[in-house]
Amino acid sequence: MRRYRVGVIEGDGIGPEVVGAALKLLQAVDRDFELVRISAGYGYFKKSGKPVEDGAIDTIKSLGAAIKGPLTTLPGPGTYRSINVMLRQELGLYANVRPFRSFRGVSLKDLNFTIVRENTEGLYRSVEGRFRDVALSTRVITRSGCKKVIEFSFRYALVEGFRKVTAVHKANILKVSDGLFREVFFETSKKYPRIEASDVFVDAAAYYMIKEPERFEVLVTPNLYGDILSDLAAGLVGSLGLCGSAQIGDGVAVFEPVHGSAPDIAGRGVANPVGAVTALTLMLKYLGTMHSDDYLVSRAVEIGEAVREVVEEGRALTPDLGGSSSTNDVVEAILKLLQPEG
Ligand code: NAI
Repeated sequence: MRRYRVGVIEGDGIGPEVVGAALKLLQAVDRDFELVRISAGYGYFKKSGKPVEDGAIDTIKSLGAAIKGPLTTLPGPGTYRSINVMLRQELGLYANVRPFRSFRGVSLKDLNFTIVRENTEGLYRSVEGRFRDVALSTRVITRSGCKKVIEFSFRYALVEGFRKVTAVHKANILKVSDGLFREVFFETSKKYPRIEASDVFVDAAAYYMIKEPERFEVLVTPNLYGDILSDLAAGLVGSLGLCGSAQIGDGVAVFEPVHGSAPDIAGRGVANPVGAVTALTLMLKYLGTMHSDDYLVSRAVEIGEAVREVVEEGRALTPDLGGSSSTNDVVEAILKLLQPEG
């Protein structure tokens, strides 16, 4: 039987709780997984003086896939640079793919769309300077960066059976940088005549996302817009704790829940593990597709269906969804559906 080696970054705050929960579900996957632990985050920084262990980038590159929990980044100058941003840029994880699908009886709106967020450029290049009371941030948008993520979003739409890709920008104001993003989007769209290509200003996108979310199927966005719209979408789905993501590069991918380290609920055993479990299913699907292992792909689908049943039937709901179940109760409820008794 094939052995899969994957990296694991537990992360900060609720990270170890939700990543631990996701990894418990690997019990229900009949494959040999070797988990390679990688230390990173604020907790690790306090112990070692380093935000991430030496050689982490090479380790993840050589493994090709990793699952990670959220990492705390303190605001303001004088602390280390975001490790999330560093990992995305150093590993070239250019597409941050975040599927949002409503849960019956839980979500505020019916929706089924995916945000594909450019993940390595934009304002997150952190080219900043301060001159007395004037602070400047430079936004970096390149043709090659746009091309990679936009090509990805059209291919994703085809593979996942979506018919429409919408570019989100603000090219009426940011005429040069978002203008380039928009230009590359419509150039690229010509290669995909079966997919409807349209664009929307980011402010209107936020409005339509709440008012008429059914108008969206795949949205492709520059970095910051995708970050903000993702949390908005997660709110509509019902909780940040319900949403997972795949960060895709060339030959390497990192899977994580959409949420942060949630220090307000960390250590209490009540974090919603569904986002991390969704990240796990995205990783299983990725590995299965990569290695032509249909079993892994079908197991990913089964875990996703079990999660859906647990949430929609209210079998185990954590406090963010109005329930009183623990993180572990949710995992046990999912496992029970995957391994029916008798
Ligand atoms: P956050 O996502 O950690 O929390 C926002 C709200 O959502 C809080 O009320 C929290 O309790 C709730 N929440 C988040 N995940 C949940 C879950 N699984 N179950 C139940 N409730 C959940 O965002 P915040 O507070 O802005 O950031 C906290 C830290 O996380 C910061 O240091 C930030 O830099 C970091 N962060 C890291 C990310 C990553 O590693 N990819 C992404 C976003 C933030």
